[in-house]
Amino acid sequence: MNRIFSGVQPTGNLHLGNYLGAIRNWVQLQPDYACIFCIVDLHALTLPQDPKALAQATREVTAAYIASGIDPEKSIIFNQSMVTGHAELSWLLSCQTPLGWLNRMTQFKEKAGKHRENAGLGLYAYPVLMAADILLYKATHVPVGEDQKQHLELARDIAGAFNRNFGVELFPLPEPQILGHATRVMSLRDGTKKMSKSDSSDYSRINLSDDADSIALKVRKAKTDPEPLPETADGLADRPEARNLIGIYAALTDKTVAECCQDWGGKTFSDFKAALSEIAVAKLAPIHDEMARLMDDQSHLDAILKHGADRAHDIAGQTMHAVKEIMGLVAV
Ligand code: TYM
Repeated sequence: MNRIFSGVQPTGNLHLGNYLGAIRNWVQLQPDYACIFCIVDLHALTLPQDPKALAQATREVTAAYIASGIDPEKSIIFNQSMVTGHAELSWLLSCQTPLGWLNRMTQFKEKAGKHRENAGLGLYAYPVLMAADILLYKATHVPVGEDQKQHLELARDIAGAFNRNFGVELFPLPEPQILGHATRVMSLRDGTKKMSKSDSSDYSRINLSDDADSIALKVRKAKTDPEPLPETADGLADRPEARNLIGIYAALTDKTVAECCQDWGGKTFSDFKAALSEIAVAKLAPIHDEMARLMDDQSHLDAILKHGADRAHDIAGQTMHAVKEIMGLVAV
């Protein structure tokens, strides 16, 4: 059976972009793949974190996975730092990765900003850790949002370089799965910016932890333009906010963008927003409630993480054994 690996960083609030771009697709893929869904806490450390908030967010992401429909018995759920192979393989792969490949990564440039000299080595090396996550389990498929595409191309390059350098066929080249109508959900305040956990305005995103009233308020306040909605998808071309809201609506209703334009063409944003907020609440409120219920029992969540880490560790151990042997690292 093909194997999926994917993950979310436990930083800040999970939002609609994480849900529609990633987690919801995982739930749909779960029956057809052996799945590993990780809470990538080592990745979170590439930027400063408050230790208490990091631990809380790790459990919250665990709760969000389960509340969204990931089955912790069928799929493996665990946090990255519990399986030491991630950090270990990351080092071994970093020795196979030319600097030039990392210099191309746009996310590093965005996150490091103007003060690149002050950015941490971890932030720079982050895509190698991501490649290690995937290759540690020889994952064949990686479902992510569009923003992770470049990192996945790098993971493929690193897998290929390892196989070539050592004359082996150890790692499959992982295939990205960028699925659905909301592969890049944009900010509700600016349709040209990605919806992100780090945006200073909470009105820019719908969080999975938002209650029905907050969701309705954020949708009502979402930026729009003065025109009525277009009748065809082509009419969304220069209208980033309209395109984003229709894309979200399409993803939540499982319709195509063209169908949504047919349904809503010529209508005002205020009518459309009422319908969008209704469907968003209907889809997200059950997840919100279940997350709250799960968060009340921390020991249950911790037991799930432990069980997942034990299962992940068994698979990771086999890969690490093979990698070390191939590289000439003596393990007596
Ligand atoms: P992270 O935590 O930033 O995001 C988690 C997942 O959510 C998707 N996503 C979005 N999709 C659509 N619209 C958006 N606005 C949006 N924002 C985020 C991301 O594409 C991602 O799928 N490096 C990764 C985590 C990671 C990982 C991995 C993923 C670490 N190792 C191995 C896959 C495989 C990250 O920071 O995702």
